[in-house]
Amino acid sequence: MKHVEFNLPTIIRAGNGEFQKTGLYLKEFIKGTRIFIVTDPGIEQTGFVIEAIQMLQRQGFETRMFNQVRPNPRDVDCKAGGEAAREFRADAILALGGGSVIDSAKAIAILQCLGGEPQDYAGRNNVPEKVTPIAVVPTTAGTGAEVTRSSVITDTAKKIKFTIKDVHIAPALAIVDPELTYGLPPNLTASTGMDALVHAIEAYTCKLSNPISDGLALQAMKHIYPYLRTAVNDGNNQEARYNMMVGSTLAGMAFSHADVASVHCMAEAIGGLYDTPHGIANSMFLPYMVEYNAGADLKKHATIARTIGIASPNDSDQDATTRLVAEMKLLAADLSIPTFSSLAEVSEYDFNYLAESSYLNGSTSSNAREITKEDYLRLFKIAYSKEYKEISLQK
Ligand SMILES: [Fe+2]
Repeated sequence: MKHVEFNLPTIIRAGNGEFQKTGLYLKEFIKGTRIFIVTDPGIEQTGFVIEAIQMLQRQGFETRMFNQVRPNPRDVDCKAGGEAAREFRADAILALGGGSVIDSAKAIAILQCLGGEPQDYAGRNNVPEKVTPIAVVPTTAGTGAEVTRSSVITDTAKKIKFTIKDVHIAPALAIVDPELTYGLPPNLTASTGMDALVHAIEAYTCKLSNPISDGLALQAMKHIYPYLRTAVNDGNNQEARYNMMVGSTLAGMAFSHADVASVHCMAEAIGGLYDTPHGIANSMFLPYMVEYNAGADLKKHATIARTIGIASPNDSDQDATTRLVAEMKLLAADLSIPTFSSLAEVSEYDFNYLAESSYLNGSTSSNAREITKEDYLRLFKIAYSKEYKEISLQK
């Protein structure tokens, strides 16, 4: 029987219009008066940041904005943010944005309090004490970072990603409002939505899965999968946006209490080297990894297919899994996710390096099936050589 440890220190307020109560919620849940807002230039342009500043000022808070976050967030930017937060003497940090902003905010909270480099805290449980409290308003439905204890940062010198995983960086407050995603363009909706789906699938199938994370992961899939195409094709569909947002948060809770696995290891390898958007990178490798992993736990993979409604209880586990692989390829194609081979920056000469980088990722050991550097190399080659619509699972 598996030992289960569940610790979610994040207060969640979720629903349409919740963003409008940001000032009130921070007043209620956060001590102090100085709020350091972490965001990026794209979010700033939407007007959400100025709205948040006005709400906070109405509650008597003093604010300072830091908008130097880039996709695949970088160590150097986190360091600059940490110094700015320290100089401002921030009492709390408000992250307003997608996964890159939220992960940066977590690293900034550490650096403000404890100094040093983000790399000093890489790995599990290497943040020795409490850091600046973090409130989060996600603007994408994908990352789940509003409820996770992890932060994935790019080491710009080494061009690899590293993860800080520690309960001390779990947000104190998550304000989850689907209305903030209404204006998200189709490509970002697709890539972030696929990331959320991969979180649920990897949390459910990985070696660190447990009954509590399984419940969260399966429920996440029920909210994400049926609404993903609709959210991409009709961005103002309220039902789809609501379900994607709720599903994303559930998937974040699931993988935070289990782990991600080898799809993320491959995605983080190419994200570190080529700056490939995280959700796109995940989508490229998902079908092949499901195919690779299925034999290690056919029942769980078949359960995924049945949970998302693409296989019935009458189908054999093998048939259900075959459909799952095929559907993951079709879904990525339908959402216009580029294939691995279509990325101009990808070179086969890098595959050895990418395989090594994937293998060294801390989540490799969590993958459902044992996986070596050579296996990763083979999977990179397979993903590079195939089109999504080519279905090749052997029975
Ligand atoms: Fe992810």
